[in-house]
Amino acid sequence: MQKATFHYGGTPAEVVEVDADVSLMRAAVTNGVAGIVGECGGQAMCATCHVYVREQYLDALPAIGADEDEMLDCTVAPRDPVRSRLACQLTLGTGLDEIEVDVPEQQV
Ligand code: FES
Repeated sequence: MQKATFHYGGTPAEVVEVDADVSLMRAAVTNGVAGIVGECGGQAMCATCHVYVREQYLDALPAIGADEDEMLDCTVAPRDPVRSRLACQLTLGTGLDEIEVDVPEQQV
């Protein structure tokens, strides 16, 4: 079991446990994490699970796929060229014990 921390500007972070093969979006929604909507259920079709990954974790993540890249251009909050990812496309796998992300102020 790994750990995911969701940071917010001005309010305390939320920390949840996440299985290696479960997406960050699914872990967030299951645990009622605020600010992660997951409208399409994880199909990379809604961009309501947008997060900004903290830089120290970026290298261990899977590369951005074509669908994810396209949807990242449709996020409500501005896309960060380096840190923006869709939480539904992220699993921690065996490469990370934990991850920290910043949640945008708006998803819809
Ligand atoms: Fe829809 Fe991630 S849940 S794009």
